[in-house]
Amino acid sequence: MKIVSTIEELRDQLSGQLRTAFVPTMGNLHEGHLSLMRLARKHGDPVVASIFVNRLQFGPNEDFDKYPRTFQADVEKLEKEGVYVLFAPTEKELYPEPQEFRVAPPEGLGNTLEGEFRPGFFTGVSTVVLKLFSCVQPKVAVFGKKDYQQLMIVRNMARQFALPTQIIAAETWRADDGLALSSRNMYLSEGERAEAPALYRALTSVAEEVRSGHLDVFELEHKAMAELAARGWKPDYISIRKQMDLQPPSAGDLAQGAPLVVLAAAKLGTTRLIDNLEI
Ligand code: PAF
Repeated sequence: MKIVSTIEELRDQLSGQLRTAFVPTMGNLHEGHLSLMRLARKHGDPVVASIFVNRLQFGPNEDFDKYPRTFQADVEKLEKEGVYVLFAPTEKELYPEPQEFRVAPPEGLGNTLEGEFRPGFFTGVSTVVLKLFSCVQPKVAVFGKKDYQQLMIVRNMARQFALPTQIIAAETWRADDGLALSSRNMYLSEGERAEAPALYRALTSVAEEVRSGHLDVFELEHKAMAELAARGWKPDYISIRKQMDLQPPSAGDLAQGAPLVVLAAAKLGTTRLIDNLEI
């Protein structure tokens, strides 16, 4: 695997490649990321990964400084997956001057759910993803469904800007007890780690209720949040949305069986976890 840190070296390595499959990451790679690499390999060649902890997507009180950086271990994992190039730019390389041009997602999709609780987050994500796409020029790029809203935003951005990159969605990788793998799981204490699958169980029970015809969305969401709160969580939201645009379903949408997804974000101790389940 070639490790490159400049855009020029990256372009040299990839010149003439027309089927590049790209997986952007912030490092601290786990089995979930590696499943994205494997999916990328099915859709293109060569596979290019990036590791860049993107300051633009962190709020002032978020964990940018303490975000886990495990570069050497990440390199070993990517090598085993047969990744061809790892692009690991410094901040100075990717943002040599203040990044004044930014990509702002549309209000409806960008300011709800995660966008409501993490103002500026999706502008930071969209901006870096567009910039990374411009560096790598991939034919396809793989994003996990774990970050469902991010996936939707990137997909819409690629469509609206007519980017020549097809966005591929990868299923969420879960531990045996259901907890979605995430770099932030490492912040959990032993006791919190044992409690953490309750978030997935809450989503599963909402999804089962909806499937069995219980369509009082408001009641389901509130019951699930109250149950988590009673276990010591601080839920930001548990919300049933339409898969298509992540807006709340109308009575008509529910009656017509519009595809739905239930999304959740909640704090366990000081760790904020997100997860979702398509219904
Ligand atoms: O999902 C992530 O790890 C990040 O948001 C991404 C897509 C690499 C952009 O920094």
